[in-house]
Amino acid sequence: MIESSKVNKILYGGDYNPEQWPEEIWEEDMRLFKLAHIDIVTLNVFSWAALQPDEDTYDFARLDKIMKMVKDNGLKVCMATSTAAHPAWMARKYPDILRVEHNGMKRKFGARHNSCPNSPTYRKYSVALAGKLAERYKDYDNIVAWHISNEYGGECYCENCEKAFRGWLKKKYGTIDELNRVWNMSFWGHTLYDFDDVVLPNMLSEEFAWDGIRTNFQGISLDYNRFNSDSMLECFQMEYEAVKKYTPDIPVTTNLMGSYKPLDYQKWGKYMDFISWDNYPGYDSYPAQVAMQHDLMRGLKQGKPFALMEQTPSVSNWHIYCKLKRPGVMRLWSYQAVAHGADTVMFFQMRRSIGACEKYHGAVIDHVGNENTRVFREITQLGKELDQIGSEILGAKEDAKVAIVFDWDNWWAAEFSAGPSRLINYCQEVGRYHRALSEQNISLDFVSVDDDLSSYKLVIAPLLYMCKDGFDEKIRSYVKNGGSFVTTYFSGYVEDHDLVITGGYPGRLKDILGIWVEESDALPEGEANSFTYKEKTYPAQVLCDLLHLQGAEALSNYESDFYEGMPVLTCNRFGEGKAYYVATASDEEFYKDFLGGLCKELEIMPVADVPEGVEACERINEKGSYLFLLNHSAKEQRVLLEKAGCDLISGQSYQAGDSLVLSKAGVAIVKK
Ligand code: GLA
Ligand code: ZN
Repeated sequence: MIESSKVNKILYGGDYNPEQWPEEIWEEDMRLFKLAHIDIVTLNVFSWAALQPDEDTYDFARLDKIMKMVKDNGLKVCMATSTAAHPAWMARKYPDILRVEHNGMKRKFGARHNSCPNSPTYRKYSVALAGKLAERYKDYDNIVAWHISNEYGGECYCENCEKAFRGWLKKKYGTIDELNRVWNMSFWGHTLYDFDDVVLPNMLSEEFAWDGIRTNFQGISLDYNRFNSDSMLECFQMEYEAVKKYTPDIPVTTNLMGSYKPLDYQKWGKYMDFISWDNYPGYDSYPAQVAMQHDLMRGLKQGKPFALMEQTPSVSNWHIYCKLKRPGVMRLWSYQAVAHGADTVMFFQMRRSIGACEKYHGAVIDHVGNENTRVFREITQLGKELDQIGSEILGAKEDAKVAIVFDWDNWWAAEFSAGPSRLINYCQEVGRYHRALSEQNISLDFVSVDDDLSSYKLVIAPLLYMCKDGFDEKIRSYVKNGGSFVTTYFSGYVEDHDLVITGGYPGRLKDILGIWVEESDALPEGEANSFTYKEKTYPAQVLCDLLHLQGAEALSNYESDFYEGMPVLTCNRFGEGKAYYVATASDEEFYKDFLGGLCKELEIMPVADVPEGVEACERINEKGSYLFLLNHSAKEQRVLLEKAGCDLISGQSYQAGDSLVLSKAGVAIVKK
């Protein structure tokens, strides 16, 4: 959420690039924005070339005009700092700004997200520009947020980064002996004598032997990922400081990308005033998959509302098939974002550009240039509704009793691992658990290993390959005090540096789970074992742990192969609570049944009883509770309301026991 006294409704707008258009068009844009009930624009995302045409010259004349026009038209501004793509002169004059790719190739000018995060030139000029913008526009009271850079991402393997990596390591580990220990450099005689021996892990060094995904030394690659994420975070923080100097009260964000692997967003979240992110589901994404991204982003700030910074009104040009969002779907997905915690709904982009790779990306204003399009009409309808909803919902939070643990370090480490299976996919495994809960309309939060668990009845840590220092203790006391904990195969193997915890898997979690995993059998795609739980039979796939009970009880056993009869699903009473172990990956049915049953036992109720294909979410603030009903199915649906309430969109009141009709792609927000 863009938290500011200047905001009293769900803001509605998007990325606006008037600099790509002659001024005559601008007034027409203003007319169309008004028609569509647009009240915010993100300005200045890619304007560095114009704002700083050479090293010593800054030129704000055009931005001044745009700012004045936008203000005169009553629009709020999310002000970008323009530093996601550097100007051509800078690349020509200061090649240190250009990135080096994973394969060692030095880039030339071109593309975007193209600056080396450790380039002194980049840091100097990006911070200078951010500061100048803040100084110049600080008195515009319609600026409601700063948008630093744009979708930070990628990586760099240049000499500047290598030098900075050595410094980062020295600070973290102190001595070369400690570095050799945590990276296990006695393996293959890779012992380093000096920090100057450190090289970046890419195709020129440790990441060539497999296929660029796997590495010879997981510890090095892991630290590189941490370092790369930190390097970009430092760039963000430096610009953050530069704008805060002039506008201490304007909240600052940068647009994130959901489960984007290279950046540790949980760490980033700590330094952002509010979370914003860009939602571009694939043409074949299912609703729970999108919900998972929203939930993950909401979790970065412990449930605080976020901004949906970008979504396409119709198509994303970069998908392999640019399938249209069906009538009503843009509206449905916008409300889905709100249902999961968004307090701002924005598009990329306001007007379709005419050249380069995004000219066929969806926009509020299409190439036809007027309001007579299906997309514009749908945008207008949603705009009207958001006006009508007003300040309701703002600041509302979910009340979840289930937490799913997500951890970027663990993600990196699990997927760097050489063995036991190339089918091991962290987000997919997390998604299996998330989907089962989400499709049963059970509220859940994503938490990091640093978050407090005490308010949850059930904590699920899928594929917790890396169990970090102290996290086992957190789980231990959580379960002892009555919590329920679920974890899976390939968990508890390593500590923070990807060094194996000896003494048997799952390492530090052994006593909590009451088991010992002796071996793991990786099944090729298409192969499966099976197990029966509560009279239903499910497949066991990907990895099958061969485990022994050490206090736990077996809830189900494998049904074939040489480990037939060994436990596959276990439960251990530990203190006042219970710890479950799922020793394999199964199918959708299993997760639904297993987690559904567990929730029932723990009296964790779905937010509403709705037909299949309808998603239900609840948000609560001091004004009341809001039940979101979202019809993702292809037909009309009826929902029986348990409690009386009023639909904020249609204005219709309902009594307890009434049924509410949702048309295809229909939405209701029932305030109780
Ligand atoms: C990203 C960027 C935008 C635009 C869109 C297109 O989200 O932030 O500038 O390129 O993708 O989908
Ligand atoms: Zn670099």
